[in-house]
Amino acid sequence: MSLSAAEILYSSYLKKFISKNNTSLNKKYMNITFPSVLGLAAGFDKNGDYLNFINNIGLGFAELGTITPKAQTGNKKPRVFRIPDEFAIINHLGFNNKGVNYLKKQLTGFEKKIPIGVNIGKNADTPIHDAFTDYQYCMREIYELCDYITLNISSPNTNKLRDLHKSEYLEDFLYNIKKTHDGLIRKHSKRTPIVLKISPDINHDNIYSLCKIINDYEIDGIILTNTTLDKSLLNSEKYYNYDGGVSGLPIHKKSNNLISDFKTSLSRETVIIGCGGIMSKSSAQEKILSGAHLLQIYTGLVYKGLGLIKEING
Ligand SMILES: Cc1cc2nc3c(=O)[nH]c(=O)nc-3n(C[C@H](O)[C@H](O)[C@H](O)COP(=O)(O)O)c2cc1C
Repeated sequence: MSLSAAEILYSSYLKKFISKNNTSLNKKYMNITFPSVLGLAAGFDKNGDYLNFINNIGLGFAELGTITPKAQTGNKKPRVFRIPDEFAIINHLGFNNKGVNYLKKQLTGFEKKIPIGVNIGKNADTPIHDAFTDYQYCMREIYELCDYITLNISSPNTNKLRDLHKSEYLEDFLYNIKKTHDGLIRKHSKRTPIVLKISPDINHDNIYSLCKIINDYEIDGIILTNTTLDKSLLNSEKYYNYDGGVSGLPIHKKSNNLISDFKTSLSRETVIIGCGGIMSKSSAQEKILSGAHLLQIYTGLVYKGLGLIKEING
């Protein structure tokens, strides 16, 4: 309800009073100019319902989605649990979204001030070995309307999705994605970068092989990380048997460590988007020091509000 109210205010009245972006914070990665390195993580505006709001709150970019080919309702409620004492959230949403065609309509004709990424996934009823067909469908639909596309293979709330991290699945998956991408580049004479969103729960021994595949398929960027299933990162044991992934402060260190680990095996051109537990300017700086080029926030915004964006950019 708050977001819907904010969207109405920002689309009409407040927009006129918001200052222009400060160009001194501009950074260029993946051939995209970002007004600042701080972006909005996927899941906050899954369907592009709050575009006027997110366009005007000082963010450097925003990632919409996760969106799937068909609309779907997601998992049973309750499915989002706030843990304010620990600046954490557990969510078990399961890609509830209005479908890629809805998002396409929202983006068509929208005057964006910041780069917009679209995060895509598979419908719950698509078998994992056919997952690539859902991603290909979404890519074709939104290719021209966004600045980059994220392949989300890391949500813990869609059955077997994380299997796509295994080499035997990932090679085949990216081979099919690359074929479609090459076709879209030719068709539109435009190269929209491809980003892969990674789970924090991968086995450490797999990092090198994951990086090799990412390098071989010339993936433009990776997001480290999605939410974790490791509830032991929470202080309160009462949540240990809740379904869903943990975000926020408890995952900050784990995500940062993965950034450093991936950095050593990735090609120099691969852009790292650091995501997980940014709650302050100093925690944003820690991610950059770990090796991130760009940053994304979600849970921090829920607990700290819009002031966090100003604090980090300032
Ligand atoms: C309620 C909620 C919904 C989310 N939905 C998505 C989603 O649809 N797709 C996705 O890739 N990540 C999703 N995420 C994960 C975030 O994008 C982000 O990777 C994660 O929360 C870590 O960042 P944070 O600690 O700043 O929240 C969601 C997170 C939350 C809390």
